[in-house]
Amino acid sequence: MEIVKTIEGLRRKLYPRRSGRIGLVPTMGYLHEGHLSLIRQAVQECDTVVVSVFVNPLQFGPGEDFDRYPRDPERDAEQVKETGAEFLFAPDAQEMYPRSPLTRVTVSGLTDSLCGMSRPGHFDGVATVVTQLFHIVGPDRAYFGQKDAQQAVVIRRMAEDLHFPLRVIVCPTVREKDGLAMSSRNIYLSPEERKQATVLYRSLSEAAERKSRGDFNRASEAVRWIEDQIRAQPLAEIDYVEVLSYPELEPVEEIGDRCVIAAVAVRFGQTRLIDNMIFSEE
Ligand code: PAJ
Repeated sequence: MEIVKTIEGLRRKLYPRRSGRIGLVPTMGYLHEGHLSLIRQAVQECDTVVVSVFVNPLQFGPGEDFDRYPRDPERDAEQVKETGAEFLFAPDAQEMYPRSPLTRVTVSGLTDSLCGMSRPGHFDGVATVVTQLFHIVGPDRAYFGQKDAQQAVVIRRMAEDLHFPLRVIVCPTVREKDGLAMSSRNIYLSPEERKQATVLYRSLSEAAERKSRGDFNRASEAVRWIEDQIRAQPLAEIDYVEVLSYPELEPVEEIGDRCVIAAVAVRFGQTRLIDNMIFSEE
């Protein structure tokens, strides 16, 4: 495994590997099993795998956690090495943004709901840095997690709209034993917050069961039920609970036999957690 810090350096290393399949796994580091599952799948499916670690300032809003976002480059490098990925691309902000960028990639429509609503500009920052990474690496496959369902839908659409010659692969959410979705931000949680945070997965999976029993007809009933479960946790403060069509992310009234996504964002103190679940007929 080789750590590469410059765009030119990475391009040079990848040039002789272009005849094989190149996989890219974009991350912001502080790697956990969720990230590693993406990297392992990429290693299985591709000849050359590039893992990028870059805490992208462009996707953090004012007052968000950019400065205190957890970082551990040495541990990240060790973990990437163990997966068998060939390159760790770890540019600094100066390398990615030598000047304050005047260009943004904006995906409209799909970003009108969920985190797009509650974090204005966030997905412009994500789409812009992922476009940069796609141009730098030129991957045949790029791997994203279902944990960030809206991000995956947005990136897939962006890649289609801009004719990037690659496949966006979305991998399942990896969870702790008690169901909490793995996240670099989980380390911010106090022990009591950590306990109460299990309500995200619990309420979503119970709602999925209730939906399959026919308990909810209308999306608003499912939303209210999930909200009630979350509100029962005294440290939880709801940012949003939404049930939308999937993958279009449009409002629905009757769930019926439609494929929908239930998605939640909940604050515990300073920490904002997200999770989601697809309710489909199968
Ligand atoms: P980051 O939060 O580091 O996540 C990197 C990738 O890992 C994303 O595709 C995310 O969906 C996936 N991931 C995170 N937790 C996961 C889990 N528990 N199970 C499965 N996959 C998981 O998402 C970003 O970084 C950034 O927005 C990025 C795409 C790198 C652009 O800056």
